[in-house]
Amino acid sequence: MKSKGLFITGTGTEIGKTVIAGCLAATLKHSGMNVGVMKPICSGDNSDAKYLKHAAQVDDPLSLINPIYLKYPLAPSVSARIEEKEIVINDIDKALNTLSEKYDFLIVEGVGGIAVPIKDNFLVAHLIQRLQLPILIVADVGLGTINHTMLTVSFARAFNLNIVGIILNQLQPEKAGLAEQTNPQEIEKLTQIPVLGVVPYEQRLNSTKLDRSFMVDFFSQHVDVSKIEHIINIDF
Ligand SMILES: Nc1ncnc2c1ncn2[C@@H]1O[C@H](COP(=O)(O)OP(=O)(O)O)[C@@H](O)[C@H]1O
Ligand SMILES: [Mg+2]
Repeated sequence: MKSKGLFITGTGTEIGKTVIAGCLAATLKHSGMNVGVMKPICSGDNSDAKYLKHAAQVDDPLSLINPIYLKYPLAPSVSARIEEKEIVINDIDKALNTLSEKYDFLIVEGVGGIAVPIKDNFLVAHLIQRLQLPILIVADVGLGTINHTMLTVSFARAFNLNIVGIILNQLQPEKAGLAEQTNPQEIEKLTQIPVLGVVPYEQRLNSTKLDRSFMVDFFSQHVDVSKIEHIINIDF
């Protein structure tokens, strides 16, 4: 069965989830798809929701794209505790349902990594289960990523999540070394999950004035989106 969306998680925070989610949304939109975006929980600021909104060129209010906003740049459960605010998961369900009616496909960015606590006894992995979305894992391409990726994959499997692919991202403008060259194949072999591509460091992805056509060209050049077409209502 084709899905209504894809949940973008990662091996941690500041790993490239927003950039990859934005590029994917822009690319799907460019191919004619009616795609929406969502960042259910923002902690600290809502720049991720703004980036996604801009990348996907949608007109939804930020309060719908990002139904839960927390003040401190901390794990959601910790920020909520300090703020004395209750996180109501049903607010996420409602926003997702509203957006699902409007769009054919939703790109949903997680918060931090998959084991981050949202509430007591409720982790990002539980949220993914609840939303019933397949996941895409974003990981650094460099040294150390095999361990982080294996841990994320095994955690996702323990929750019976449907992992459709991994994207490796280069976070620093450094010349690719041996780890960068060997990691994609090694990760594919160890996890048995397709690595859809390696996204090089590119300053223009980091900009506040995003050039969407550049994003689409750049992303399409480095990521084989056709490998996830089975979950998307579009043929590449
Ligand atoms: N491939 C890339 N090239 C250049 N900058 C990148 C790239 N990927 C991520 N960044 C930058 O690195 C930082 C972290 O990326 P981001 O997508 O915000 O991570 P996350 O959403 O996982 O926290 C941001 O400043 C982002 O613009
Ligand atoms: Mg982000």
